[in-house]
Amino acid sequence: MKIIKIDLQDRSYNVYLGNIDSNLNEIHHNKVLIVTNPRVSALHISSLLSKFHSKQVFICTLKDGEIYKNMQSVEEILNNAFIHKLDRKSLIIGFGGGVIGDMAGFAAGIYQRGIDFINIPTTLLSQVDASIGGKTGINTPFGKNLIGLFYQPKAVYIDVNFLSTLNKREFISGLSEIVKVAVCFDRNFFEWLENADLLNNKDNLTYAIQRSIEIKADVISKDEREDSVRAGLNYGHTFGHIIELLGNYSTYLHGEAISMGIIKANKLALELNRITKKESSRIENLLLSFGLPISYEVNNKDEFYNNFYLDKKSQNDKLRFIIPNGIGKMEILENPSKELLLSIL
Ligand SMILES: NC(=O)c1ccc[n+]([C@@H]2O[C@H](COP(=O)([O-])OP(=O)(O)OC[C@H]3O[C@@H](n4cnc5c(N)ncnc54)[C@H](O)[C@@H]3O)[C@@H](O)[C@H]2O)c1
Ligand SMILES: [Zn+2]
Repeated sequence: MKIIKIDLQDRSYNVYLGNIDSNLNEIHHNKVLIVTNPRVSALHISSLLSKFHSKQVFICTLKDGEIYKNMQSVEEILNNAFIHKLDRKSLIIGFGGGVIGDMAGFAAGIYQRGIDFINIPTTLLSQVDASIGGKTGINTPFGKNLIGLFYQPKAVYIDVNFLSTLNKREFISGLSEIVKVAVCFDRNFFEWLENADLLNNKDNLTYAIQRSIEIKADVISKDEREDSVRAGLNYGHTFGHIIELLGNYSTYLHGEAISMGIIKANKLALELNRITKKESSRIENLLLSFGLPISYEVNNKDEFYNNFYLDKKSQNDKLRFIIPNGIGKMEILENPSKELLLSIL
């Protein structure tokens, strides 16, 4: 079992990477409310429940899907917590992908001004990204993730075995977040990925998850609230969020949009001589080798451009893009010219 520490002073916690059988050691609460959805529950809840002994465990099963990542679902979690009389010594567990984790964390953060939260992510994307770092929240008709809290969990348990039931498209989608951290923060890891087999080799996959978490842990402990270096985790996302939006959040999965967004960000970096053509092709080839989509044709450049200003990562009308500076380093690019942006679109 591997333990990765997220170092945030009094909010520090451990990420346990390994077989979940052996390690529910941090759960010492009087009552536990597990938040999940029907799909994850059907596949995995019985194995999870067998790890709890003589505790009062309750289950809140929410509808499955990003469209249910809203206030109503959070209210359902809170109502469950009231019905079962959870108190300040109780625990909420998120058991599912990023949608469940973000909502369970948010509910834990506001229930009685905050009770303990533990995350057990079951998708690749949530194991390498969403479960780490304390961002919680929901969507609103005004946009994605616009309401929420920074609320760190007490622990995160990552068990790669859950991923075996994930459909292939979901799995592949999660790989783009691994590429993202490698390009922005760790050249050696990038080179290792070029020769690894994450689709068939479980040891390779486990190491890739571990390294991605270690990188994110390091970034977060330097910049919990995204004032500086944490912005690097948005590489490919300024473009990707618009690709998701223009596809009505149904054409592409998040990671697919990010993969195409990475290619657009690289074009920006190429134009500004921050990466070479060769480096850009290496990144492209890695994404391709995972089976991720890389080309996205912008139909209406002006519409795409105007959407940059609606992205919440753009502060006070300032446009911000994360671009690689060589492989293994990133740079925050503020306000590139409209001409440049239209030319790379
Ligand atoms: N908090 C953060 O820092 C952060 C970071 C990135 C993404 N996110 C959020 O994460 C969400 C996306 O997460 P996601 O990609 O995990 O999507 P998801 O939670 O919707 O899960 C994808 C699908 O996989 C199913 N599933 C989950 N585990 C499974 C398993 N083991 N076997 C079979 N099916 C399983 C789910 O039921 C769902 O249908 C978005 O809402 C995004 O905003 C948050
Ligand atoms: Zn992402």
